[in-house]
Order: sequence, then structure tokens, then C-alpha cells
Amino acid sequence: MRKITVAIDGPAGAGKSSAAKIAAKRLHYLYIDTGAMYRAFTWALLERQLSIADEEKVAALVETVSIRLEAGEERCRVFVDAREVTKEIRSYDVSAHVSTVAALAVVRRKLVQLQREMAAGGGVILDGRDIGTVVLPQADLKLYLTASVASRARRRWLEVQAAGGTETLADIAANIAARDKLDSEREISPLRRADDAVLLDNSELTLDETADMICRLIEARAR
Ligand code: CDP
Ligand code: CDP
Repeated sequence: MRKITVAIDGPAGAGKSSAAKIAAKRLHYLYIDTGAMYRAFTWALLERQLSIADEEKVAALVETVSIRLEAGEERCRVFVDAREVTKEIRSYDVSAHVSTVAALAVVRRKLVQLQREMAAGGGVILDGRDIGTVVLPQADLKLYLTASVASRARRRWLEVQAAGGTETLADIAANIAARDKLDSEREISPLRRADDAVLLDNSELTLDETADMICRLIEARAR
């Protein structure tokens, strides 16, 4: 069966990364977590204590910093220059700033270019916000994965609990709602369903059911 290019977009906590990761493993595809790239760049800015409003410094950093993804057991492993930041990029601080950083044109231009290079060989599943609309408008299969804010916040809260974190369900729901708003209303590449994307609401589905559905769609399109 030929290997295709798959774009999965949708809001935070919809299950994109977890489901994409399972599908990629099962079908032997390369999984590319584009959100992790925006998180990594945000981490780099915060670590250097640069202001997000300082356009020149942000532009200089985006040109010089290296952001790299490597396949990992669970999520993608993420590196900023030589440093692994796989855990650090999931911090509350990064989550609180990433959507503001991701709205900057210079940042998107550079990361989109990198994403296209990584996807060039095919046999890839990319997940993000603008993959089907901007990064890979010619993708063979586009999915728009979503779920209610309540179920998405609960999923993230369970993850935080399991990791021993202290954020409350209300904090997490507020962060998710704020990012939904910033991501959907920004001027450049807002989060929206591409006209030709298959809509999947998985509020009532388990992760396995979601991943199964995605695998079936990929296999059907690849035939
Ligand atoms: O995993 P989670 O849904 O929390 O978010 P993510 O996929 O790690 O993405 C973090 C943030 O990066 C999003 O809220 C967007 O602001 C931004 N992002 C983007 O603008 N475009 C993408 N292709 C992927 C992420
Ligand atoms: O990448 P995205 O932000 O869309 O979501 P994720 O990080 O893959 O998923 C957030 C959490 O929801 C993970 O802990 C998944 O295991 C969980 N999940 C779930 O409980 N049920 C689903 N149908 C999909 C995801």
C-alpha cells in the first residue's frame, strides 16, 4: 500500500498528538508534532528572557536557533540546539505564552518552512492548527479532530494529575479556552477546518477508538 501525507488539525486536547502517534506507529508513518515546534521556540524565548514584543530579537532568534524533532517512545523528543526540552515545553509557562508567539509572522514563516521540508518524503502524519489549510494544502488526507472544551480540559487535567501537577481543572479549562480563541482569531493561519477535511468529534470516543478511526481513514485513502 502506498504511503500518503496526512494532515490533522484541531484545538488543544482534541487527542491529535496521541492518536496520530498511535496511527503512525501502527502504519509505520513518521509522526511530526508541529505544536511541539512552536512550544520549543517559545521555550527558547522564555529561557533567554526575551520579550515577545521585541520583533527584531524574536526574528534574530528564529533564524539562529535549531529546533529538531526525533521519534520517541511516547511523544516526539524535542531539542533546542543541543538541549533536550521534551518535558520543559509542556510547562504551564510555555502553555501560557505559546499562542501569542505562534501568532507572529516571522515565527510561522520559519517553522512552516521546516515542517514542509520534514514532510517532503511522504509517509508522514503532521498535527497542528494550520496543516491542512497552509502547511500542506495538497495533503492526501485531512482530518479535523475536535471535542467539547469540557472533555478536552478533563483529559489534560487527568494528564497533569498523573504527572503530580497542581493545576486545577478550572485553570486548564481557562488555558484551553484562551488558546482556542487566540488560535482561531489570529490573522495569520488561524485554526479552522479546511473545506476538504474530514470532521471527527471524539468527545464521546476513547483514544483507542479515535486512533482506530484515523487508521481506517488513512488505509482507505491510501488504497
Ligand atoms: O498539545 P496542545 O494541543 O496543547 O497544543 P500544541 O499542539 O502543542 O500547540 C501549542 C500551540 O502552538 C497552539 O495552541 C497554537 O497556538 C500553536 N500551534 C500553531 O499555531 N500551529 C500549529 N501548526 C501547531 C501549534
Ligand atoms: O494533541 P492534542 O492537544 O489534540 O491532544 P493530546 O495531547 O493528544 O490528548 C490530550 C489527552 O486526551 C491525552 O491524555 C489523551 O490520551 C486523551 N484522549 C482521550 O482521553 N480520549 C480521546 N478520545 C483522545 C485523547
